[in-house]
Amino acid sequence: MSKHIVVLNGPNLNLLGQREPQIYGYDTLDDVAVICTSVASELGLQSSLKQSNHEGELIDWIHEARTHSAGIIINPAAFTHTSIALLDALHTFEGPVLEVHLSNVHKREEFRARSFVSLRADGVIAGFGINGYALAMRHMGTLVSSS
Ligand code: DQA
Repeated sequence: MSKHIVVLNGPNLNLLGQREPQIYGYDTLDDVAVICTSVASELGLQSSLKQSNHEGELIDWIHEARTHSAGIIINPAAFTHTSIALLDALHTFEGPVLEVHLSNVHKREEFRARSFVSLRADGVIAGFGINGYALAMRHMGTLVSSS
């Protein structure tokens, strides 16, 4: 059976395409889902994309990934900079974790340069827009094929 990768997205990313397009662009989360599914199937992987505005729901999905998924790609959005709970949840997951940000968080406000999630992530992509998800999925293919 092919390996499953879950792509988790945090708060306000449901508004991708409408929300501050000068920073995040005009592509929507549906566009992200299409890209992820297409790269995943090219690599012989299965993927599903989820988004929540609620920290606890993201944590539940990370717990679910422990038994259902080989890898996690996560854009924790603002929870990146605040959530020790998400970090702790990610520490319970044994497979690879890749962190994605649409914008270059290092070129923005100082508080965005700090990521709790990066303390667990095996790699971080920032500033590549939605292409960052495709790059992360491609790298995930390499990581899970060697596990
Ligand atoms: C973001 C960057 C975060 O700082 C911000 O809170 C977001 C989106 C990004 O994808 O660039 O909501 O994670």
